[in-house]
Amino acid sequence: MFASVERFEIIPDITRIIEPNSSELSTNKREGSLSMKEEAERIGMPEHWRPPKIEGEWGNKSFISVEQLTANDFAEIVNMATRIRDTRMSKEQRALFELKSWLFPLSMQTAFYEPSTRTRTSFEAAAQILGLDVVSNPDMIRMSSFSKGETVADNAIVMGEISPVIVQRHPEVGAAAIAAFALQSMTRCDGTKPRVINAGDGIGEHPSQALLDITTIIWEKRLKNANDLHRLHIGMLGDLKHGRTVHSLTKSLNCMGGPAVFYFISPEQLSMPQPIIESLTRGGQSEVVVTGDLAEVLPSLDVLYVTRIQNERFKDLDECRRYENLYRITPEIMERSKERFNINHPLPRRGEIDPRVDSDPRAAYFRQVGNGVDVRMALLCCMFDRPYPNFRNWYK
Ligand code: NCD
Repeated sequence: MFASVERFEIIPDITRIIEPNSSELSTNKREGSLSMKEEAERIGMPEHWRPPKIEGEWGNKSFISVEQLTANDFAEIVNMATRIRDTRMSKEQRALFELKSWLFPLSMQTAFYEPSTRTRTSFEAAAQILGLDVVSNPDMIRMSSFSKGETVADNAIVMGEISPVIVQRHPEVGAAAIAAFALQSMTRCDGTKPRVINAGDGIGEHPSQALLDITTIIWEKRLKNANDLHRLHIGMLGDLKHGRTVHSLTKSLNCMGGPAVFYFISPEQLSMPQPIIESLTRGGQSEVVVTGDLAEVLPSLDVLYVTRIQNERFKDLDECRRYENLYRITPEIMERSKERFNINHPLPRRGEIDPRVDSDPRAAYFRQVGNGVDVRMALLCCMFDRPYPNFRNWYK
């Protein structure tokens, strides 16, 4: 059974379970290091500090949350990524080589305090295609001075002296804000200001993933413009409580006016956080359905965004195991879905999608990974708007 939730209505059962809030600074402590709350106190960062909104001006600003974006900002990235994709697939490829020298001698650093396959490598590939040098730190926890007690803030400042853009992933909510706050008053010797891109902060956000997820939906559905998103019925399935990708994607779709209906499909204990559901009642135009029953809503769906159970976020692994085999997308399930249906997944998957589904043309999750390179190229183009405005204009 599922419950249709009217806008402005609070769902009492969910309020009780959601803890911690995916937008609050984490108080978790790792041996020998400060919690994000302690880091914030150390550098004088107010609890709810955020870098400025983008509103068409990407240059010199950190990008840590989709809440910084307007619908036009989303549209700009999607349009630029589409242009980049077309260019990379066409004979114009030579033009991409000409761009390389424009970003010389800048570099991008990846600083990953948490494992990654797709996000780090697609950022690094995107940067390299654009001619940025890449400094890769895939294991900050063990291989950087973090292991000697250096803080996230100090690490960011040090990397900011070396590279104007840092792509950072960290297991705790607030780590991206800490880095952005630490960098905001810096100016580098070449006049650029270093900034951070949040590549995932615990159960918080993963904003560049949301950009690529939106782009994937638009490309797979062959939508002419973002307004057409309103026609879609979009489901999200799995661990919606701890999955940062679904948090960012939900806020992003809402900012763009929302789909016709959001379906949040999960066990009750892993529901979409209440503050995010509440935020959907402001601005967006979508109906919201919260349910545990995939079979019931499946025939209505145009897109199903599947996520894994985020086992690394559970204190109690026995509890985690209880949820692991609840949902599994199989060829039989695909048969019961619309003909023009799509399955997306940020990956990695565990048991939630049967590999036999991979050969179904409606399985978009591996294509989604490749789209990440185009979208991250578009994002980097925007972020180098200043002091390289011509670079961005080249794509217009
Ligand atoms: C996701 C992440 O790290 O949040 N993966 C990704 O970036 N593509 C999803 C996940 O780990 O489940």
